[in-house]
Amino acid sequence: MLTQRPILTAALLLIIAVTATAMHHEEQAATQPATQPATQPDAPGHAAMMATINNAVAVMVPTEGSTTHGTVRFHQTEAGVTVTADIAGLDPGSTHAIHVHQYGDITGANGKSAGGHYNPMGHDHGLPEQDARHAGDLGNLTADEAGNAHLEITVDNLSVAGVNNPVIGRGVIVHAKVDDGGQPTGNAGARIAMGVIGIAKGE
Ligand code: CU
Ligand code: ZN
Repeated sequence: MLTQRPILTAALLLIIAVTATAMHHEEQAATQPATQPATQPDAPGHAAMMATINNAVAVMVPTEGSTTHGTVRFHQTEAGVTVTADIAGLDPGSTHAIHVHQYGDITGANGKSAGGHYNPMGHDHGLPEQDARHAGDLGNLTADEAGNAHLEITVDNLSVAGVNNPVIGRGVIVHAKVDDGGQPTGNAGARIAMGVIGIAKGE
């Protein structure tokens, strides 16, 4: 029995040493991100990479039972983002809400998986005439006699992939009805087309 004691003591000391080393490593890992930019001044950072993305596009596909489809393009300008929507398969002369929604998830056949309106600033819903509104509130588009709608709007409360409410990776929804600006989401009804905002090749 007595001869086992030095072995136990040695084992105990080993465990303490290993634990202390592990803790030291954890500490180092925790402090590393803060020192990384200073030690890699020339490495292209994440922000710099995202800032080079100036064009995005959402290919709009019909939700279940709908024939509405098209494209919505996002172009970064100095003033903000120019949104250009070309949507087909609408009733002639009809007007429809169009919003950027929270998620670029169109797995749900009814478009609901795209979540609510994109609203990183925590504002109430509104039409583009109102400065304080959901960042994703793009107002309405109206179809011509052939059922095609074209909308071009420049907004200053979005960016393609910058720090100002980036839209990249989010969703776009065209609704069955008009956005009347009412709360909480403009009474725009069902979702008739949906798309995911992806990085575009650009002009
Ligand atoms: Cu919407
Ligand atoms: Zn809204």
